[in-house]
Amino acid sequence: MNICVIGTGYVGLVTGTCFADFGVTVECVDIDVKKIEMLKRGEIPIYEPGLKELVDKNVAEGRLTFTTDLTDSINRALVVFIAVGTPPQEDGSADLSHVKEVARTIAKNLNGYKVIVTKSTVPVGTGAIVEEIIRKECGAGHKFDVVSNPEFLREGSAIEDFMRPNRVVLGARSEQAVAIMKDLYSPLYLLETPFVITSVETSELIKYAANAFLATKISFINEVANLCEKVGADVSMVAKGMGLDHRVGAKFLHPGPGYGGSCFPKDTSAITKIAKAHGYTFRIVEAVIDVNARQMELMVEKIRKLAGSLNGIKIGALGIAFKPNTDDIRDSPAVYIIERLIAEGAIVKAYDPAGMDNAKQTLSKKVVYCKDAYEAAEGVDALVILTEWNQFRKLDLGRIKELLKSPKMADLRNVYEPASMKALGFEYVSVGR
Ligand code: UDX
Repeated sequence: MNICVIGTGYVGLVTGTCFADFGVTVECVDIDVKKIEMLKRGEIPIYEPGLKELVDKNVAEGRLTFTTDLTDSINRALVVFIAVGTPPQEDGSADLSHVKEVARTIAKNLNGYKVIVTKSTVPVGTGAIVEEIIRKECGAGHKFDVVSNPEFLREGSAIEDFMRPNRVVLGARSEQAVAIMKDLYSPLYLLETPFVITSVETSELIKYAANAFLATKISFINEVANLCEKVGADVSMVAKGMGLDHRVGAKFLHPGPGYGGSCFPKDTSAITKIAKAHGYTFRIVEAVIDVNARQMELMVEKIRKLAGSLNGIKIGALGIAFKPNTDDIRDSPAVYIIERLIAEGAIVKAYDPAGMDNAKQTLSKKVVYCKDAYEAAEGVDALVILTEWNQFRKLDLGRIKELLKSPKMADLRNVYEPASMKALGFEYVSVGR
């Protein structure tokens, strides 16, 4: 089977490459010539562990190609994936202009029955809009079906999440489209991966509801952590005790500076906007968003208290990316906190194993970039762990203590243990303990 994946960003590139690894012939298309040239040279524009090897293998075996020629790709494909960005607009709702533009282009190039799949996270009702655009552009001439097939990929483990998903969600109107999608996903189907086959609207909402719920778990445990600090409880034990209840589940109960990335902030905002647009106030998720914003502020407060003041103080920041194993700094709590520290007069030395290039393009010019955690610790009044990279889990704490001007650490990801840090002579604060 031939498919075409439009958009070689984070979702499109992983989706296309993994389908190629299933044995499907895949053309990944993008309007960004530079990006396509990079991909043709075997360079990967995003940081995703294991992706380069998978791209190289499938390009070498002739199943994966990259092109800017959307027309030919659509003509050759039976299934066309829309995997372009749906960034948040000013008011927080999703910007569908790229999706609509692609729908129009697809309509102009229909040369026979096709399945058009929205892979990007799109507001409920987008499938119907895409269908209407195509119907209008090409009249009753051509048969096609629109399918919703949301992605559940986490950055840093996207290939694993694609190859061994907890479920595949398909929203479709026709049996023919479902049959084609099942055939496309047959390697997973044979692995007995659960398939949720439902309406387009239901499929679109599953994605938002899942992400909003995960974000809710994070804001929930962050509030529990804040309460723990007041009552002298240990949030990691509370999370453990809660999580052993199978109805709660242990995952996504790690407190910290709040959630970030290109999904949770966007999707929580979008679902509240979708609700509002239909006359409903989604109060829990609105609270989740507020709690998340406040959590970052509370972290700045925590650092200010530890350091005594921030004006003229030197802070070492370990981690800029929104989570480990990614170079993505979009909506990263670390970025917000670093900018706030600088705004209050602090001097920030920062290190991140993968996010430095992206940081240099967007962070305040005042940030001093370091080559490793030890350089970031050198001569600062306090060291702050913002992202729980493995590189920060086994630091030589004796050396760190020597390098620090004063032995102070704010561990916002609870990487270390309070008792052992105290025994080492650190003035140590963390989250919820
Ligand atoms: C998320 C969803 O997990 C994924 O299914 C969806 O397709 C895209 O959005 P991602 O944004 O890549 O994936 O990262 P994720 O691992 O979910 O973490 C999101 C944020 O939550 C990060 O900032 C992370 O630090 C934070 N987080 C996560 C916590 O603060 N505590 C936790 O327990 C888990």
